[in-house]
Amino acid sequence: MTTAVNAANAGAIVLGDLKVNRLGFGSMRLCGDGAWGLPKNCAAALKLLQRAVELGIHFIDTADSYGSEVAETLIAEALYPYPAGVVIATQSGYTRPTKKNWIPNGRPEHLRKAVEESLKRLRLSCIDLYQLQIPDLHVPFADSVGALADLRRAGKIRHVGLASVTVGQIEEANAIVPIVSVQKYFNVEDHSHDDVLATCERMGIAFIPWYPLASGQLLRSPRLVKIANERRATAAQVALAWLLTRSPAMLPAPGTGRIAHLEENIGAADLKLSAEAMHLLGEPRE
Ligand SMILES: NC(=O)c1ccc[n+]([C@@H]2O[C@H](COP(=O)([O-])OP(=O)(O)OC[C@H]3O[C@@H](n4cnc5c(N)ncnc54)[C@H](OP(=O)(O)O)[C@@H]3O)[C@@H](O)[C@H]2O)c1
Repeated sequence: MTTAVNAANAGAIVLGDLKVNRLGFGSMRLCGDGAWGLPKNCAAALKLLQRAVELGIHFIDTADSYGSEVAETLIAEALYPYPAGVVIATQSGYTRPTKKNWIPNGRPEHLRKAVEESLKRLRLSCIDLYQLQIPDLHVPFADSVGALADLRRAGKIRHVGLASVTVGQIEEANAIVPIVSVQKYFNVEDHSHDDVLATCERMGIAFIPWYPLASGQLLRSPRLVKIANERRATAAQVALAWLLTRSPAMLPAPGTGRIAHLEENIGAADLKLSAEAMHLLGEPRE
């Protein structure tokens, strides 16, 4: 089916030797409340994933901790065998003994086991992008990254990414193994990790802003709503268009459990923001 709304309208971005449309999908919200357990309606979650791919989403972000294990299982169930060009990016670095507990675990033996388990759940022999979800303060960072470098050498991972890291950690990791992506909190109302974005731009690394919609909180922002009304767009579309315009290194992957919101968010790929709108939304960069 052809459709005018398509993630391809956001352009493309490279992740090592892979190229994906520059608007992805984050799967955390597909699980039950608090990213814990099964969704209320599994059939609807599967349909949403299929619709995302149908609308040109080629980058799907997930993690073994979403569910736990639920999001990866749903992705495989909905999309396997994966259409050509679809990149599943998963990550590990947390264990979740309960819904509320996210416990960092970057021990090499944990990461090795996590990769094997994700490979099984995703029904893959090699994961296109595997991300360290958080540095573990109790484990030397180089040991966690070194474990991923070994897994890459063993052919279990194609590319390595990072999340929740500093500029120094990106540089340290990149000296061990080529880093192709970094996830960090970033959205139109919070640019406090501008330094990480600038580093990604300089190093040719994709920047994946997590909580691109601040979990939906920022959609009531008067500045966003004003521009949305002027452009006959929605606040979510303006927030995502702002990210896409902010940097060519940006790869937003907003999450939703609703097909209507998915389609609305992909519509952001067609929204061009003027320099004046970018300025009004807090973009001072020349
Ligand atoms: N590496 C990390 O540590 C890390 C941490 C957090 C997130 N992430 C990744 O980043 C992805 C994005 O984060 P996220 O999904 O939590 O946050 P988000 O994209 O900022 O916001 C998702 C929330 O916004 C709502 N929403 C989405 N589209 C909407 C629309 N058009 N209108 C109104 N509300 C809308 C969703 O509710 P509905 O379901 O009702 O649409 C959901 O509650 C995650 O899925 C995950 O893959 C990574």
